[in-house]
Amino acid sequence: MRTKVIIIGGGPSGLLLSRLLSLDGIDNIVLEKQTKCHVISRIRAGVLESGTIKMLRKAGVAHRLETEGFVHEGIELSFKNHGFRIDLKKLTDKHVTVYGQTEITKDLYDIIEKENGNVINSVENVCPQDLDKNNPFVTYNKNGVEHKIKCDFVAGCDGYHGISRKVIPQNLIQIYERVYPFGWLGILSETPPVSDELIYANHGNGFALASMRNKNLSRYYIQTSLSDKIENWTDKKFWEELKKRLPTKASDTLVMGKSIEKSIAPLRSFVCEPMCWGKLFLVGDAAHIVPPTGAKGLNLAVSDVYYLYNGLKKHYLSNIDEDLNLYSQKALSRVWKAIRFSWWMTTTFHRFPEQSDFDQCIQDSELEYLENSVASQTVLAENYVGLPF
Ligand code: APR
Ligand code: PHB
Repeated sequence: MRTKVIIIGGGPSGLLLSRLLSLDGIDNIVLEKQTKCHVISRIRAGVLESGTIKMLRKAGVAHRLETEGFVHEGIELSFKNHGFRIDLKKLTDKHVTVYGQTEITKDLYDIIEKENGNVINSVENVCPQDLDKNNPFVTYNKNGVEHKIKCDFVAGCDGYHGISRKVIPQNLIQIYERVYPFGWLGILSETPPVSDELIYANHGNGFALASMRNKNLSRYYIQTSLSDKIENWTDKKFWEELKKRLPTKASDTLVMGKSIEKSIAPLRSFVCEPMCWGKLFLVGDAAHIVPPTGAKGLNLAVSDVYYLYNGLKKHYLSNIDEDLNLYSQKALSRVWKAIRFSWWMTTTFHRFPEQSDFDQCIQDSELEYLENSVASQTVLAENYVGLPF
C-alpha cells in the first residue's frame, strides 16, 4: 500500500492537516490509536485566534463555530481584588472566539468520514521507518494484522506522548522544558458564567480563571499544589476558594452549583528543536507544550499545520521545496513567541512556592503597569489574539 503523506495522530492537528491536503488532492492516511469515540470524548477548551478560524474556514469546518462560538472582544485581568479590562478589539481590531476544541475535532471527523474516509482508528504499534531515507514507510497493527504503508512524508501529529518525537535520534534534537511547581484544579458546572468575558486573577492564595463553555456551562480553575488531590476539594471548598481569588465584583455575583467534572492538570512549557528529521515533520503537541494560561495550545497546532500544509502543497503542486525545508524554522519562530507569552502570563498570575514579598510586588507592579499603559496592554492583546502566521 502507498500514499503521499502518512499522518500519525487523529487529533486536531492530524485531522486538520489531512483535510487540507485532501482538498488539494494530496493523498494521505491518518493512523489514530484510539477509537473515534475516545478522541471526540476529550473535553478541551478552545479560545480560537482569528488565524485558526481562517484555517478552519478553509477546511470547511467553520460553520458551526461561526454560529455557536462566542466572540470575545476583551478579557478581564485582576489583582489586589480589583479587575480591569483589556479591550482586545480596540487595541488590535481583532477578537478571539470561545468554542470547544472537542467540537472542532468532531466537525473534522464528520467531514473527513463523509468525503475522504482516510482515518484508520484503533491502530497499534505504529512504527515510522527509514525516515532519513528517500523511501520511508510506516508499519502498524490493526486487529492483529500487520500492515505496511509506503509514503513520501510522515507528519507526527501524535501529541506529547506520541511515538514520532521519540523515533528521532536523541542526539539530533534539543529539548527545552520548564515544569511549573503547581497545577490547575478545574471544574465544570451547569451554572451561568460569572462574567461574559474571561477573568484571569492574580491573588495571594494563587491564580484563578473564570471561563465558560456556553451561557449555562461555566469553567473555573484555581491554581493548586502539585501534591494536591481531587478528593481534597469538595465543591463547597472549591467555590469558597474561587470567591476569595476572583475580584470582588465577580465573587459577589458568582452562581455556584454542583460540579459535573473536576480534574487537576500540571503545567509545563516544552519545545523540541528541530521540528523535523528527514521525511518526518512534528506538528502540534508532538513538538511543543504550553501552559494553558495563554490559551495557545490549539492555536499553535493550527499554525504548525498552516506551515506544513503550505510546504507540502508547494512540493506536490509546484515542485518547490523551499517552504518544506523551512518548515521547522518558520514554525519554531511562532512557537517560541507563544511559549514566551504563555510563560509570561503564567509567571505574572501564579503564586510560586517560596515567592517573596518582593516577587509579589513585581507581579503587582506588572499588573498596575498593564492597567495604566496602552502600550503594555497592546503587547498583551496582540499576543492573546494571536500573532500573524
Ligand atoms: N499512534 C497513533 N496515534 C497516536 C499515538 C500513536 N503512537 N500516540 C498518540 N496518538 C494520538 C492520540 O490518541 C491523539 O488522538 O495522537 C493524537 C494527538 O492529539 P493531541 O494530543 O490532541 O495533539 P494535537 O493534535 O497536536 O492537538 C493539540 O490538543 O491536547 C490538546 O492542548 C492541546 O489544544 C492542543 C491540541
Ligand atoms: C478554558 O475555558 O478552559 C480556558 C480558557 C482560557 C485559558 C485556559 C483555559 O487561558
